[in-house]
Amino acid sequence: MPIGIFYGSSTGNTKKIAEKIKSNLDPGLVDIYNVKDAKISDIEKYENIILGSSTWGEGVLQPDFEEFLYNTLQKANLKEKKIAIFGTGDSAIYPESFADSIGIIFEALEGKGVTFVGEFPTEGYEFKSSLSIFGDKFVGLPLDDDSEEEQNKLRIQLWTEILKSDLN
Ligand SMILES: Cc1cc2nc3c(=O)[nH]c(=O)nc-3n(C[C@H](O)[C@H](O)[C@H](O)COP(=O)(O)O)c2cc1C
Repeated sequence: MPIGIFYGSSTGNTKKIAEKIKSNLDPGLVDIYNVKDAKISDIEKYENIILGSSTWGEGVLQPDFEEFLYNTLQKANLKEKKIAIFGTGDSAIYPESFADSIGIIFEALEGKGVTFVGEFPTEGYEFKSSLSIFGDKFVGLPLDDDSEEEQNKLRIQLWTEILKSDLN
């Protein structure tokens, strides 16, 4: 089934991760959109959606993604869609708001009839707090391109294996 990846990125890190996620899935089935250019009709044509945003400020969504979330994504009909979220951040410099973007997006979409997939264990990450943990897991995949880049390859591999079985 086709998958739409929608990302917001200020310095290119999240864009690069979106491309890696695509190549780990079935690339022929995956389309990538920069949220700056994405419309409601782009979102609604996918049953399977992957959302990706970096965290800025101290626990604030990447600016393009923030605008997209409230002005486009929340207005789309998301009923019965499967949604997976990934977030980029920096756990060494921002350990108290590590990859908060995932949790912010998750909470903004709760109650919209969405099924979330792709939660990820916290083992192996070093940080103090994150809005992205519910229960004892991240509600998506956090990636640290600044301080833990060497771990990204394996984390993306593990996460995309989860998605292959959980997405339609
Ligand atoms: C001013 C500034 C604030 C940041 N705030 C956070 C933060 O609160 N939490 C976090 O995990 N990462 C934070 N980061 C790290 C970025 O999220 C990280 O560099 C990310 O890879 C950027 O991705 P992008 O180029 O796709 O926007 C911050 C970086 C900068 C420069």
